[in-house]
Amino acid sequence: MKTLLSITFALLLAAGPLAAQDNTLAADGISAEEQALLDEEARLDAQEAANETAAMNDPTAPNPAPAHPELRPVLEDFGGEAGLTALMETFMAGLIADPRTGPFFANSDQVRVKRQLVEQFCVILGGDCTYTGRDMKSSHRDMQIGRGDFNALVEVLQVAMNEHDVPFAAQNKLLAKLAPMHREIVNK
Ligand code: HEM
Repeated sequence: MKTLLSITFALLLAAGPLAAQDNTLAADGISAEEQALLDEEARLDAQEAANETAAMNDPTAPNPAPAHPELRPVLEDFGGEAGLTALMETFMAGLIADPRTGPFFANSDQVRVKRQLVEQFCVILGGDCTYTGRDMKSSHRDMQIGRGDFNALVEVLQVAMNEHDVPFAAQNKLLAKLAPMHREIVNK
């Protein structure tokens, strides 16, 4: 009995400082209450951004990023999300440099477009990502994009994929999912 009491006492002693720590400062100097407020603020910011994007969307437009879980191995051929991020650098540089597509992108927020493209391609290729951009109809409204412009963009994408050693079969799997989007994008 004496041993049991001393074990209980020892346990209480050990638990004491741990329990006290919860109400004081975390390792980085932020209290639990402050952290909860920061978390709530971040959650509200994310919600606001999602609402803003939703408001910019056309409810009649098809899903701009339909997920294809069966294409997950294709995502691996692209080098995963990191591979897509690297690809988008080359793709955007090509789009800017090409006189057929450059004028469209010159005044766009290129950082944002690259990020949205990574998300979009990642979701389409069955990745564990979320697309936070607008639908294709809303994104390209009033841009006067012709069929030739669409083909030019696809060509620039193919050159970028070749440069990143993406196998042909994988390239074609992605392009097959992007091709039907011309219906929402070509508007001239
Ligand atoms: C399959 C083909 C295409 C796909 C998948 C695609 C995808 C996208 C995505 C995801 C965005 C970002 C949407 C957002 O801001 O929320 C975007 C924006 C944009 N796209 Fe496309 N796009 C395609 C074709 C084209 C073509 C052919 C052009 C012109 C030649 C073009 C010009 C632009 C421009 C200029 C923006 C930026 C718009 C802005 O700054 O608000 N896109 N596109």
